[in-house]
Amino acid sequence: MKIQNNLFDQIEDAQIQNESNLYLAFNHENITQLIKPASQGMLHGFPPNELINVRYIVSEYINGGELFDYIAYTGKFSEQVARYFFNQFMNGLSYLHTACYVHRDIKVENLMLDSNCILKFIDFGFTARSQGDNNDGLFSDFKGTESYLAPEVRPGQQYDGIKVDIFAAGIVLFIMLLGHPPFYKANAQDPFYRYFRKNRPEDFWSVIQHNYSYNQGFVSDEFKQLFNKMVDFKPANRPNIQMIMQSSWLKGPIPKDDEIKDEFKIRLKKLEEKRIKEEEEQKQKNHPIIHDAGNNLGIGDIQIQELDNKIMKKFKKIPGKFTYKGLKMDPKLILSNIINYVTQ
Ligand SMILES: Nc1ncnc2c1ncn2[C@@H]1O[C@H](COP(=O)(O)OP(=O)(O)O)[C@@H](O)[C@H]1O
Ligand SMILES: [Mg+2]
Repeated sequence: MKIQNNLFDQIEDAQIQNESNLYLAFNHENITQLIKPASQGMLHGFPPNELINVRYIVSEYINGGELFDYIAYTGKFSEQVARYFFNQFMNGLSYLHTACYVHRDIKVENLMLDSNCILKFIDFGFTARSQGDNNDGLFSDFKGTESYLAPEVRPGQQYDGIKVDIFAAGIVLFIMLLGHPPFYKANAQDPFYRYFRKNRPEDFWSVIQHNYSYNQGFVSDEFKQLFNKMVDFKPANRPNIQMIMQSSWLKGPIPKDDEIKDEFKIRLKKLEEKRIKEEEEQKQKNHPIIHDAGNNLGIGDIQIQELDNKIMKKFKKIPGKFTYKGLKMDPKLILSNIINYVTQ
């Protein structure tokens, strides 16, 4: 569920409506399905007896995790496993591009895996019709996530959304295999991307191998060739999806469904253990006064955690007077006081 809680923000309002319409237009195995289009509702806020007006959309719940979580917390993928998911990823992207949409925020945080190892696109907040601003396939608005942005996406410059999606897909592929991004940002100053600007990808690979102390042959030549093309400095040199699908890397061997499911059952278990551990650690970190006040009011730990983060962000430490009051006052009142204080 995606919630927008400021109904007066017209830009946010248009965005969530746009995302809802896009979800409605899509129907594909690798695209998360919408369950309820943009609707208005009420949400328990803080203090908990107050209700706030919100707009929200509900999509099917993807019960695995972000591709990011799997890679960051359970390790990078072998080439065969990466190929298994990259195939699904290309199927989803091909569907979007064929339906004349560009995603414009492709990244490992916006791709999820469900417990059946089906990859799902999420987050259509920046998605647009691929014909662009003036029906010439070009965009000029600055959208996306910096480390995934193609070099031509710069303020005041026009870009082809399809080519920008392909560039970001190249970065996702690299992260799946190596477990870290290829460069910080695709610009002239970047110590890694600069080799692509000079059309010297072989030097990029030497530097990567040296910097990360990889052994010779740490990735296949077929993968290097595909990646080099996908992140080419010149958008026109980047392959389209058909070319990627036909690439020698993608035609290599793929694990059987059962092998993938066995491996990802173990990975998902690790992720769940990590989530539980983090929740426990967070509980310890919550300020005892907020924790007690929250518990007394029947507020769950996640909400306590959000509230606690908000307070800590503002004060680093809870002001002493609340501690003093905490000893004397009803926890309900402490909590409302703190919230009023923080949101002032
Ligand atoms: N359908 C879903 N099922 C499970 N988790 C989801 C789903 N959609 C989003 N999420 C989680 O919420 C996060 C934020 O959602 P997203 O749509 O990407 O919003 P934002 O525009 O804030 O990035 C995602 O990175 C993912 O972890
Ligand atoms: Mg997102």
